[in-house]
Amino acid sequence: MTEPQPEDDGEFESVLVYLKESRGFDFTGYKRSSLRRRVQRRMTQAGAGSYAEYIDQLQVNADEFVALFNTILINVTGFFRDPEAWEYLRSHAIPALLAERGPTEPIRVWSAGCAAGQEAYSLAIAFADAIGVDAFRQRVKIYATDVDEEALTQARHAAYTAAEVEGLPEDKLEQYFELQGNRYSFRKDLRRSVIFGRNDLVQDAPISRIDLLVCRNTLMYFNAETQTKILERFHFALAPRGLMFLGKAEMLLSHSRIFEPLDLKRRVFRKVAGSSAGYSHFASPGPPGRKPIDVSGLDELREHAFSASPVAQLVVTADEVVALINRQAELSFGLNDRDIGRKLWNLDMSYRPVGLRPYVEQARLERRSLRVKDVEWRRGSDTVWYEVHVNPLVGRDNSLLGVSVVFHDVSWAHLLLLELEHTNRRLESAYEELQSTNEELETTNEELQSTVEELETTNEELQSTNEELETMNEELQSTNDELQTINEPSVTAASNWTS
Ligand SMILES: C[S@@+](CC[C@H](N)C(=O)[O-])C[C@H]1O[C@@H](n2cnc3c(N)ncnc32)[C@H](O)[C@@H]1O
Repeated sequence: MTEPQPEDDGEFESVLVYLKESRGFDFTGYKRSSLRRRVQRRMTQAGAGSYAEYIDQLQVNADEFVALFNTILINVTGFFRDPEAWEYLRSHAIPALLAERGPTEPIRVWSAGCAAGQEAYSLAIAFADAIGVDAFRQRVKIYATDVDEEALTQARHAAYTAAEVEGLPEDKLEQYFELQGNRYSFRKDLRRSVIFGRNDLVQDAPISRIDLLVCRNTLMYFNAETQTKILERFHFALAPRGLMFLGKAEMLLSHSRIFEPLDLKRRVFRKVAGSSAGYSHFASPGPPGRKPIDVSGLDELREHAFSASPVAQLVVTADEVVALINRQAELSFGLNDRDIGRKLWNLDMSYRPVGLRPYVEQARLERRSLRVKDVEWRRGSDTVWYEVHVNPLVGRDNSLLGVSVVFHDVSWAHLLLLELEHTNRRLESAYEELQSTNEELETTNEELQSTVEELETTNEELQSTNEELETMNEELQSTNDELQTINEPSVTAASNWTS
């Protein structure tokens, strides 16, 4: 078979187009040279002499796609892969990240391109070591994503061979894993904080409000243009001043505007405060060549839009004077126009349903958004649950304009959550019952088995008794025969006498 030559570029592209159209997987943003090498390797193994022939094979053989996919997406990974960089993360980056957040504030981590999960569990260990396992369970959520479903299935099992855990220090292995059969399973209570899901970095929306984004040894598969797009998504995904941890071979030279290095050598970066990248959830480029329409003089429109929002909101100035109140906030908290211009602290609602002062002051001083969750407010027989967002409003010259306080009514979500928890508890107890029934059945089974064994023994004993009886019977029979033979001449003699 001759290897396809560079002039087959068009044909190679048609393989990529075929994969995109038939499988929805877009490899066009991957680095061409290594991609072509991998496709060719697979073609050689599959015995295809040209790209066209290979497309035919892909069309008729679904397994070939899986094999190609596995050849292109290299899942090489390991716990604390590249120890020096991880050591820096543990000793500097994570402590810095924790110091900037309140002691109970949630921490959201994203392992993007997590392969079989070792990276995500390494992060779990690093955070559990840093804040203790109880706080870890309460505060940390690790989202771990990959495009490869097979790798995700392995990751979800959280069970690794002795060779796979080789890189882990003995004490971590003991503290965080349980030996089950010949596999080491990650602790179940901590496993729950790691959430796996499929996410294609090229096509899918990023996860948001991330405090630490880890994307190692994955960006390097993409060409420069795709890397730029992905980095813009990462910028969007990160919370203000969030950290990003890349792989050893991955650089960010052209993105210094939106990321600054915390440590360049170990590839840890910080999102630059107030920076903005190209990505937006709502990005939709307008038609080329059309002039933007003048939208100045829309203050009244803006005011109405603010006022009509279904979410209660108020805005205070930098010195905490109430500047704006929308209609929903008036209805929810009994406010009115006369409250505008008053100090926030003179309003009842500044301490009910939740004491706003510490949050507004923190948002003002630290210039970062805060969320207050699970705020319960009883009004007569009704209970409303809020999630309160406190956001600093920063001007173009980086000066503080004010603070906005938004009250999201999350009562429905709360009720659903309670129901879910209730259902979960019922499910758990049903599962426990099932398990104990199963155990009982297993015990009964064993009992039955030993009864069967006993019966078998009894049967064997009966059989040998039977055999003994048969032997005795035969012996008796032959004694009987003998007696009869002895008896017979005397009977003949007697009959002679009578005749
Ligand atoms: C070499 S592994 C890196 C694993 C881990 N981050 C580490 O450093 O040990 C690269 C991973 O990137 C994933 N990957 C490749 N293309 C991707 C894409 N478009 N979206 C998400 N993950 C992708 C692969 O499936 C693979 O699991």
